Amino acid sequence: MTTTLLDGIGLLYTGDPEREEIEDAALVVEDGRVAWVGHSRGAPGADERVDAGGRAVVPGFVDSHAHLVFAGDRTAEFQSRMSGRPYTGGGIRTTVAATRRAGDAELATRAAALVREMLRQGTTTVEIKSGYGLTVEDERRSLEIATGLTDETTFLGAHVVPEGVAADDYVRLVTGEMLNACAPYARWVDVFCERGAFDGDQSREILTAGVRAGLLPRIHANQLGEGPGVRIACELGAASADHCTHLTSADVDALASSGTVATLLPGAEFSTRSPYPDARRLLDAGVTVALATDCNPGSSFTSSMPFCVALAVREMGMTPLEAVRAATYGGARALRRTDVGWLRPGSRADLVVLDAPSYVHLAYRPGVPLVHQVFHAGLLLEEDVQNPSAVGAF
Ligand code: NIG
Ligand code: FE
Repeated sequence: MTTTLLDGIGLLYTGDPEREEIEDAALVVEDGRVAWVGHSRGAPGADERVDAGGRAVVPGFVDSHAHLVFAGDRTAEFQSRMSGRPYTGGGIRTTVAATRRAGDAELATRAAALVREMLRQGTTTVEIKSGYGLTVEDERRSLEIATGLTDETTFLGAHVVPEGVAADDYVRLVTGEMLNACAPYARWVDVFCERGAFDGDQSREILTAGVRAGLLPRIHANQLGEGPGVRIACELGAASADHCTHLTSADVDALASSGTVATLLPGAEFSTRSPYPDARRLLDAGVTVALATDCNPGSSFTSSMPFCVALAVREMGMTPLEAVRAATYGGARALRRTDVGWLRPGSRADLVVLDAPSYVHLAYRPGVPLVHQVFHAGLLLEEDVQNPSAVGAF
């Protein structure tokens, strides 16, 4: 088995709470896994050596919330928001119409292009949701396409009630025929619990049906206003409550005393010109926080975890360390993964070499392409990560 020593790491952020930062570090990769992590001076020998040249290294980002299977474009909606129109979620139906019209090949090509775009920016694990089909077959094929790109697939048939369908009938479909068709392609079940989408009772019913079908629950909660979503997430033991923009103290307490991660999606607040969630309040209460892009054509058309890190630091009261932790370790917790999101012996060798001496530069130099190299399961993408050829499935 070939072993590779990556040394000359100026600052290694490991994501491992037991030893989060190591200066003048090295790590050894064997068979796609991290075999050793520590100070350069104690590094064991290896068959090959890669010199990081004093650069900083972080674990590959874990983007635990993305909607990548869609067609169409919502530039006009974005423009009108930037002229003052509020975001309501109503534009989801525009994307649904375009997605239904698109062929499988077009949907798959577009989703794969977004995954590549993410990889170039250091994301080595991504969750992908359905939710722009809203018919049994369109949801099923969305998830089938997603399974070609990631293991972290999420059934979001309950994104909105499609036009011309009664809400009760749609909930019956989502919890019955649609769930049966989609469950074989999904690991997770999700629901948009929000005024104008699904209420608390409907959300609970949909998530519970998903759990009965063998899926794990997660939820879009408290994005546009206060509501029952976060408390339902905690009650059902969901891995994550996502958005968490409008929280009561009871919501924060519920998160703090549960194992549910609060996944914050600052790209959505940026692109809808909305107030950001208060990450400081959550962190101070002891809640585990994750950051994700929410990449979708409506509320957050960014695929960039570095951008989300910068927003979280500038706008949400997170320190650079807390933001990088949330984008790696936090995302892994939100997906219940222990093999990614950190660099320690046994973890998958997913890592990002930054063209910077420290991960702090992700926030200090916003918008700058700092990703120098990306390793995915020990495989170094070709030097020019802005144009990778070695792109596999996550
Ligand atoms: O997470 N909130 C619901 N779903 C997406 C938005 C989807 C859209 O506007 O197309 C979100 O922000
Ligand atoms: Fe979302």
